[in-house]
Amino acid sequence: MIDVRGLTKVIDTGTHRVDILKGIDFSVPKGQFVAIMGSSGSGKSTLLGLVAGLDSASSGEIWLDGEEITKLPEDKLAVLRGRKIGFVFQSYQLIPTLTAEENVLLPYELVGGNGDGPARAKQLLDEVGLSDRRDHYPVQLSGGEQQRVALARAFMVRPAILLADEPTGNLDSANGRHVLDLLLSLNAQQGTTLVLVTHDQQLASHAARIITLQDGRVIEDWMKREDVMK
Ligand SMILES: Nc1ncnc2c1ncn2[C@@H]1O[C@H](COP(=O)(O)OP(=O)(O)OP(=O)(O)O)[C@@H](O)[C@H]1O
Ligand SMILES: [Mg+2]
Repeated sequence: MIDVRGLTKVIDTGTHRVDILKGIDFSVPKGQFVAIMGSSGSGKSTLLGLVAGLDSASSGEIWLDGEEITKLPEDKLAVLRGRKIGFVFQSYQLIPTLTAEENVLLPYELVGGNGDGPARAKQLLDEVGLSDRRDHYPVQLSGGEQQRVALARAFMVRPAILLADEPTGNLDSANGRHVLDLLLSLNAQQGTTLVLVTHDQQLASHAARIITLQDGRVIEDWMKREDVMK
């Protein structure tokens, strides 16, 4: 489902060159739940952004479902992203001029929404515990509430792949547990492939696999025993 080969990301700031990712290789089968861990600055967000096709690689390949996204033109990439990928940014990235509900509906409208969109947006906001915040704008919401809106938005189009950067980073333990349950049910019921960047040991303990980055490299790729045997 996700195949990353020899991936590098170099940024040239003009005065110096930063090697952010130094050759990353891994593949994630459909339906796997992977946690990406590693210290601050190790390259986790950069890696996730590349897999989502939101940023371009310096070298290497990323394949999603047999398509090499590193080679796709932006318009094709946007379609693929809209259909297959739900993305939760570390900084949420809600649209400030849209209400919580309108933010959740956005991906659905971008793919030409016809069907159960509006009802589903309401239901998703209920599920993340924000039914009374539907008409609030992002500035009227706390960090944790914005994070939950961002999650509901990512679930909107029933993505085959959910990429989330610290999805529980700003949540108290009750809301964190609730989001974890949502993610686990998405994984179990819809076979959604989950790739989550997290520092949260509780969240990571539910993953079938933990990929640890350090300084732009994979230093550990751990898999639960029953998943290794498969
Ligand atoms: N546009 C940029 N220009 C220069 N350096 C960058 C740029 N983007 C990221 N970096 C650097 O690349 C490294 C990896 O950044 P990244 O955001 O991927 O880390 P991270 O593992 O997600 O960290 P955190 O846990 O703090 O979110 C950092 O040292 C960062 O300063
Ligand atoms: Mg990050």
